[in-house]
Amino acid sequence: MAAIVLIGAQWGDEGKGKATDLLGEKLQWVVRYQGGNNAGHTVVLPNGETFALHLIPSGILTPGVNNVIGNGVVVDPSVLLAELKGLEDRDVDTSRLLLSADAHLLMPYHVAIDKVTERFLGNSKIGTTGRGIGPCYQDKIARVGVRVADVLDEKILTQKVEAALEVKNQILTKIYNRKGLDPNEVVDGTLELAEGFKHRISDTRLLLNHALERGETILLEGSQGTLLDVDHGTYPYVTSSNPTAGGAAVGAGIGPGRIDTVLGILKAYTTRVGEGPFPTELFDEWGAYLAKTGGEVGVTTGRARRTGWFDAVIARYATRVNGITDYFLTKLDVLSSLETVPICVAYEVDGERVDDMPMTQTGFHHAKPIYEEMPGWWEDISGCRTFEDLPKNAQDYVLRLEELSGAHISCIGVGPGRDQTIVRREIV
Ligand code: GDP
Ligand code: IMO
Ligand code: MG
Repeated sequence: MAAIVLIGAQWGDEGKGKATDLLGEKLQWVVRYQGGNNAGHTVVLPNGETFALHLIPSGILTPGVNNVIGNGVVVDPSVLLAELKGLEDRDVDTSRLLLSADAHLLMPYHVAIDKVTERFLGNSKIGTTGRGIGPCYQDKIARVGVRVADVLDEKILTQKVEAALEVKNQILTKIYNRKGLDPNEVVDGTLELAEGFKHRISDTRLLLNHALERGETILLEGSQGTLLDVDHGTYPYVTSSNPTAGGAAVGAGIGPGRIDTVLGILKAYTTRVGEGPFPTELFDEWGAYLAKTGGEVGVTTGRARRTGWFDAVIARYATRVNGITDYFLTKLDVLSSLETVPICVAYEVDGERVDDMPMTQTGFHHAKPIYEEMPGWWEDISGCRTFEDLPKNAQDYVLRLEELSGAHISCIGVGPGRDQTIVRREIV
């Protein structure tokens, strides 16, 4: 095996944490390659203990796995230390966590700017997590960002923070009428926090390439999802990084040819947090039913997730832009007890049927779902462990999703626990 990319096929929260955890024992490395603590990945261990991870790869919960926060991630140092402490307080061994020297540091001014920008946008807001993700990536691309390795050189760090704040303070005070930040306080605060993570700073791309040469298996754990990708998602209602499979090579520093499996995590229905178009969104009692039965509350912000039926146009799109080889279909158990289960198979856009993602933002905003109804099943499927254990109608639902999505559904989730999984084809 070589490298496997694990990505969200929809708008995030598909169950990536559970899937990473399930594969954990077969991996030597788990790498986060983009995003930051906007992510919230839930893992339920076999003993029932639940963990919510934000910045640290879900592989940290599997003893012996090496975990890497890659160069493509934006790292809020105070969140990193708090998350480490939370894990250590629960007796999780965190000694195998490394931090790329080239990852960008998310600074207090990024959080401040994220919040005021959203407030300023009013009705046009993105509905961000308010964690400073967009502003931090803006600085990265504008070449004025602070990187992890900068904490090893106080002079450089000071220069960079001073230069950044010269501009940011003008924006905060003159445009948004907020207080500016004192550069010395920001530098001192960062250096103090750095004492807690300095020993983890590494040339992670070198280590990962050596690991690949030794034949070890690396899982590149995506956060967010395909439709939140800044290039391929529902722009501007997206995050500021590339969760899609192509982003994994960039954000970890390995060659794309090393990746031989792209595992898409796909929820058996659809959810979205924050603003933006969502063709199959339900505003009726069925939406409330999915939200309640699926426990659809954001892990990071506690916001209610919007819910809707499965959208095969999105799944086909995700298969295509990521080159998905296998799907892990999650939360099938949530759909038990429905008389019929609608699937959106195509859209109607301005009076015409379209089978693929519309080319323009306006087209997607106008998309109306065309549904096909599948017969439902009443049985509680949370105890099923083989495909044949599933009621016939649930099997048919899965096979229809597979046909519409264009990639093999290799695993099926029937509950949040690690063992509540049906494996039709081994991924690793
Ligand atoms: P992530 O961000 O993709 O890791 O997903 P989240 O952790 O934000 O949200 C997924 C939620 O669904 C979590 O509460 C998981 O414990 C839960 N979950 C994952 N797979 C399944 C499943 O197959 N069935 C059920 N009922 N819950 C699941
Ligand atoms: P995981 O990894 C779901 C959404 C936010 C907002 C948009 C931009 O748990 O799947 P940002 O703070 O990134 O600038 O917000 O992206 N968003 C997520 N939605 N799951 C996530 O992560 C998300 N991370 C960001 O709600 O709409
Ligand atoms: Mg999540």
